[in-house]
Amino acid sequence: MNFNIDFDNIDITEAEPVQEPERQYYFIAKARKYVKKIEEEIGRSLTFCVTTFGCQMNARDSEKLTGILEQIGYVEEPEEEKADLVIYNTCTVRENANQRVYGRLGQLNRAKKKNPHMMIGLCGCMMQEPEVVEKLKKSYRFIDLVFGTHNIFKFAELLVTRMESERMVIDIWKDTDKIVEDLPSERKYSFKSGVNIMFGCNNFCSYCIVPYVRGRERSRNPRDIIREIEHLVADGVVEVMLLGQNVNSYGKSLDEPMSFAQLLREIEKIEGLERIRFMTSHPKDLSDELIEVMGESKKICKHLHLPVQAGSNRILEKMNRRYTKEHYLELVDKIRKAVPDISLTTDIIVGFPGETEEDFQETLDVVRKVRYDSAFTFIYSKRTGTPAAVMEQQISEEVVKDRFDRLLKEVHTISEEVCGVYTDTIQNVLVESINDHDASLVTGRMSNNLLVHFPGDKTLIGKLVDVKLHTCKGFYYLGEMV
Ligand code: 5AD
Ligand code: SF4
Repeated sequence: MNFNIDFDNIDITEAEPVQEPERQYYFIAKARKYVKKIEEEIGRSLTFCVTTFGCQMNARDSEKLTGILEQIGYVEEPEEEKADLVIYNTCTVRENANQRVYGRLGQLNRAKKKNPHMMIGLCGCMMQEPEVVEKLKKSYRFIDLVFGTHNIFKFAELLVTRMESERMVIDIWKDTDKIVEDLPSERKYSFKSGVNIMFGCNNFCSYCIVPYVRGRERSRNPRDIIREIEHLVADGVVEVMLLGQNVNSYGKSLDEPMSFAQLLREIEKIEGLERIRFMTSHPKDLSDELIEVMGESKKICKHLHLPVQAGSNRILEKMNRRYTKEHYLELVDKIRKAVPDISLTTDIIVGFPGETEEDFQETLDVVRKVRYDSAFTFIYSKRTGTPAAVMEQQISEEVVKDRFDRLLKEVHTISEEVCGVYTDTIQNVLVESINDHDASLVTGRMSNNLLVHFPGDKTLIGKLVDVKLHTCKGFYYLGEMV
């Protein structure tokens, strides 16, 4: 990204500014000096690798970390064991996410022993759990830098603290109401970008750790969001993904409250922007106004991710989801009336404490009634500190596995049927990349989020083109540009 600050002209002999983002500009300038000095000593560039676990929110945060590192002068190295600075941006939504991080840290420790310049940093949701930080302090002394989700904007400052000392630097905030704008960020794709519209979550679904690790809900000022999107569009972006744990409650905490639907109306007006996506919607907050905007919009993509989590009202209540199966199905009807060809996707948890076979049948019933284009299915994972973790009747592994397999089969059968309906139609597709398996093909995405592979070359990347869909292969199409 073009970032118009001349870091070499910032006077780092003066005291650091108190105000943000100027304070971070100062630390980026300072880190640049340190990096240059090391580069001169060793006769090569210093490299970094940011590895992202988890959701799109984390992916966006990693772009921010990358932007800061590039301004500091680090060069990207795709293989983490060869990099001089490795950052793990972690997830903790399910237990196995934590296990994966611990496993990979062992490997990194071996790589670090071979490279005296190597630094390892950990950030993201997992770091907001006090037990994790205790474990790192005790058993993972080779880690250089640990920070959380609330102070990611301080990355440059923390890196300088580490460069100036020989100790492990740990900085975790419990919560924040702070949103720092105007820091560098490096996009993974030139033509599409995630845009945070809000941070945190106030819903406290009883199984979920997110409200504890991402803090209370806070919305970005609409003017800052619009300004960011306008800059992105000027820089070649045609599609944005508006990001928040619960985008439907956007704007409630603003000094001048504004609804998500109103925000969408404003974003729609941005000239040059072609597509708008958003993630994630909570059924309890999905308003009629939003459905109306989706029906009228020329830019909002025909895809809604609407996590249902479970079909049984008894389980939904224990999950603290605050809607019923009937209410959810009504919403689905309303959306399909307003946007007939919309693609619906969802998240489902199986094996929540106390789930009976009858409850599970209710989940299958929702899947059959809604006929999702696709669904992310999860086995319930016990997260310490959440209300569900201490609920009675945790379900045995064997029973959960059996339900999970049956659910997956149902979801697959339906999505294969649903996805095939566009065969022989012409669809507008945003070309994203050269095909991974066949370099004579490109891969693009339809408005409804389905992938299409068709003959083309790299000059098409970032362009919206019309494609005739010839065959459906379950979750993607093969086609031809028209
Ligand atoms: N166990 C299993 N799945 C979970 N999710 C959130 N918390 C848990 C948990 N403890 C799932 C939900 C959510 C998605 C991002 O992850 O389905 O929508
Ligand atoms: Fe977790 Fe529920 Fe918030 Fe989603 S809405 S992040 S599932 S607490």
